[in-house]
Amino acid sequence: MSVTRSAVTGIGSYLPEQIVTNADLAKFVDTSDEWIQERTGIKQRHKARDDQPTSDLAVEAAKKALADAGKTVTDVDLIIVATTTPDMTFPAVASIVQAKLGAGVGIAFDVQAVCSGFVYALSVADGFVARGLSKCALVIGAEEMTKLMDWTDRTTCVLFGDGAGAVVLEPREGQGTSDDQGMLGFALRADGSKTDLLYVDGGPSTTGTVGHLRMAGNQVFRHAVVNIAEGITAACAAANIEIADVDWFVPHQANQRIIKGVGDRLGLDENKVISTVATHANTSAASIPLALDAAIQDGRIKKGDMILLEAMGGGLTWGACALRL
Ligand code: UT7
Repeated sequence: MSVTRSAVTGIGSYLPEQIVTNADLAKFVDTSDEWIQERTGIKQRHKARDDQPTSDLAVEAAKKALADAGKTVTDVDLIIVATTTPDMTFPAVASIVQAKLGAGVGIAFDVQAVCSGFVYALSVADGFVARGLSKCALVIGAEEMTKLMDWTDRTTCVLFGDGAGAVVLEPREGQGTSDDQGMLGFALRADGSKTDLLYVDGGPSTTGTVGHLRMAGNQVFRHAVVNIAEGITAACAAANIEIADVDWFVPHQANQRIIKGVGDRLGLDENKVISTVATHANTSAASIPLALDAAIQDGRIKKGDMILLEAMGGGLTWGACALRL
């Protein structure tokens, strides 16, 4: 049976220049490099400049993804940005990116599912591309989480960083099997009863301020391992594959202990797990495309490989996606 699938044909990412090490943080908050590395695996994070909004990071990643796909801005007909740190309350970062890239009139909007945003945005774009509504889509995860930090709260401010990653999606014809190139299966989940575990204590319709990130870290941790494993199992079932068929596991990069816990629960070979949490920290919706790009650039992930993405974050939201590159 012939089917149209959305396939990743280009990828790019961008990290702001400034690197903040754990030792840098220990100068002004009661923490240590040892504690952060032992509990999270994080060694450093990148930090955007004050005059460098999220859209600037997104544009840099998008340009690289378009070049990698052999496309120009005139080809782009859909831009979706997954972000929880927009430049402004509105317009969408996607509209600003469209203007900064110089792309013509098309479809542009943001998806807000916090750390799960990139997986959610991919599934939305997949719908457009697979139905013939987009021939060249940019899906971008871009975040400046450092701008949501309370720098006096050691339980959160050591965990997050800034960055952006982007993919180009184009239609590809397949046979309806897991040998096809492109998106093969998704599982998306949200449980709004747990909003109080991870949230920002501000917003336009409540405080009128941006607010700061608040998290009950160990409770989120407990949910993460169980929820992520269930989402992965469901995405593999939707793609008609087994865990053993997965060449590379590219998880959301929140905590090395969560990545390991999920991998162990599913019996994943740790040599197949991509981890960038040590150098990027948690970049929310940007973490998956940043990690995917890093592993493609260093030659580990290759065209034709079976990739499993997963994420979990505020909402609580979580989700997974199986795709063949
Ligand atoms: O991407 C969105 C999803 N988010 C996540 O997945 C994050 C999930 N949670 C986590 O990654 C972990 O729960 C944390 C890394 C946030 C915390 O690790 P933990 O092992 O769960 O530690 P804890 O919260 O139970 O705290 C243990 C101790 C506490 O001290 P007491 O009460 O035992 O005296 C904390 O006050 O560690 C203390 N602590 C710190 N100490 C030094 C908390 N943060 C720090 C810190 N430096 N930065």
